[in-house]
Amino acid sequence: MAVNMKGKSLIEINDLTLEEVYQIFDLSASLKQERLIGKKHHILEGKKLGMIFSKPSTRTRVSFEVGIYELGGIGLYFNQNDLQLKKSESVSDTAKVLSRYLDGIMIRTFDHQDVIDLAKYGTIPVINGLTDLHHPCQVLTDLFTILEKKRKLQGLKLAYIGDGNNMAHSLLHGCSKIGMDISIASPSGYKPLDFVVDESMKNAKYMGSKIEILEDPIEAVKNADVIYTDVWASMGQEKEAEERKKKFIKYQVNPELVKYAKEDYLFMHCLPAHRGDEVVDEVADSSNSVIFDEAENRLHVQKAIMALIM
Ligand code: CP
Ligand code: NVA
Repeated sequence: MAVNMKGKSLIEINDLTLEEVYQIFDLSASLKQERLIGKKHHILEGKKLGMIFSKPSTRTRVSFEVGIYELGGIGLYFNQNDLQLKKSESVSDTAKVLSRYLDGIMIRTFDHQDVIDLAKYGTIPVINGLTDLHHPCQVLTDLFTILEKKRKLQGLKLAYIGDGNNMAHSLLHGCSKIGMDISIASPSGYKPLDFVVDESMKNAKYMGSKIEILEDPIEAVKNADVIYTDVWASMGQEKEAEERKKKFIKYQVNPELVKYAKEDYLFMHCLPAHRGDEVVDEVADSSNSVIFDEAENRLHVQKAIMALIM
């Protein structure tokens, strides 16, 4: 039976039940199929999505804007500098005002608390399009992509190699919620935050899956079904890039490292990729790589999310 998700915000994957996650995947698959055969699906006819960006974006911006259009609605893009938000107006007042005009808000920003507050003080659903803490739309898409390729999720092992950042956090929530094993290898000082690991351990315990927080990339990759990586310096950390390059050099996903994974492993990356740093062309462009299917799926999965909550 369908779960009613109308009015719900998506701030992190742990906001969702397992049933809701699979409902998103089911709808994503049918919207993808309908789009392929050119069938219109104006589920959100006339609805307005505000899209606030305090950081740059290619995939998130274009996939949400195209997505709401294909659902029959309209997307309004705001660079944070275009709004009074956090300059001369509080998050709570902004939330109350935008709720009078719009049917949903997607926001990409630094401080995760701003997204929580936007949802708390507004009366319309809020979608997290990336904060310093989480990137739930990306990871829901990643799981959907793995499901498409492997026909299952539970019991698979994902190895995440690199910074314990927003991607690592959402992958921890996502894999543990769905019952996938996840092994994370990061240099010391760059591990995922303890409280996110603890939250994920609770999910994993419930699902009977495993979480490993390691330092050795080879150990993490052993027998993996999926190898995932992300940039060593995220948006906002540009000044640390040179220092991080030195610390992360052992964490490059290259032909030497991937040998330890299963032969039919999938290579994934949220993109943008810094080729030559966290991954090399031989892996990113190999037949194991699904990075562009993953990028395309952002559109289908986010359309499903919008259709269900707006
Ligand atoms: N993966 C992702 O969110 O890409 P953008 O930063 O281009 O939106
Ligand atoms: N960790 C990266 C993800 C980009 C999609 C960042 O926050 O910049």
